Amino acid sequence: MSYHSTTIKSKWVKTKWLLKNASIRKYVPRTLLFNRSNLSTLLSQHSTVFFKPTGGTGGFNIVRIKKRDHGYQVQHNSQKNHCATKDSLYHQLQKRAKNRSYLLQKGIKLATVKGRPFDIRVMVQKSNDGVWKSTALFTKVGMPGKVATNYHQGGELGYFRTTLSRAGFSQSSIERKEKELKKLGKSVGKLFDKHSRGFRELGLDIALDSKGNVWILEVNTRPQFYPLKHLNDKTLYRNIMAYAKQYGRKK
Ligand SMILES: Nc1ncnc2c1ncn2[C@@H]1O[C@H](COP(=O)(O)OP(=O)(O)O)[C@@H](O)[C@H]1O
Ligand SMILES: [Mg+2]
Repeated sequence: MSYHSTTIKSKWVKTKWLLKNASIRKYVPRTLLFNRSNLSTLLSQHSTVFFKPTGGTGGFNIVRIKKRDHGYQVQHNSQKNHCATKDSLYHQLQKRAKNRSYLLQKGIKLATVKGRPFDIRVMVQKSNDGVWKSTALFTKVGMPGKVATNYHQGGELGYFRTTLSRAGFSQSSIERKEKELKKLGKSVGKLFDKHSRGFRELGLDIALDSKGNVWILEVNTRPQFYPLKHLNDKTLYRNIMAYAKQYGRKK
């Protein structure tokens, strides 16, 4: 792509930036590099753990591990298998990782709409005068039975207020979440500025758990938004494009 905005592929690098900031740290689910001892540590403290490629995108190769009475349930896409011991689990993950770097992250039980888990994308962009703004919020409603809500995994885009309302959030709590998320987007923009002046756009993947707590799953530096074109309401797409044009992004 020909436009100018810095990209950082490594989720681990970006997560470490988030963790260094006192006011943002609390939004990050516990995240560690994949190895035998970190796997043990996370499984001793959390009932669900996600295993994801440090350099991955599009919801590919995301694995969810759930503790069971006798072992672990491992799910990739909609395929499930069972590991009886932590050792066999480790070896299965190791085989999948080969020599590539993977992360382990505390699993968040995503809020649902009609039984389907969803998460939220906060699009954050920097104008030519250097001001970060959260320009769009939308939801990604996951395909039933899958572990990732991404568009490429059959996730459906939705409007922020509509999805939250259907998920049972009250109007006042939706307004509070919207403010909190927009503010968080801006703060992450400012934080990323400290590491490179070249960022013009960021896409935060945000999980809401069933209690409505906000969690940052990852920060994308090349967020896609063309699927927004297909929504009836073109405002979101136009808002983003108005900013994108300022740094030469055409779609
Ligand atoms: N810790 C987690 N808890 C719950 N769901 C998660 C977690 N991490 C990832 N997911 C699910 O997997 C999707 C893809 O993970 P993400 O970290 O955004 O990687 P990618 O770069 O592939 O989009 C998320 O949008 C979410 O639906
Ligand atoms: Mg993502």
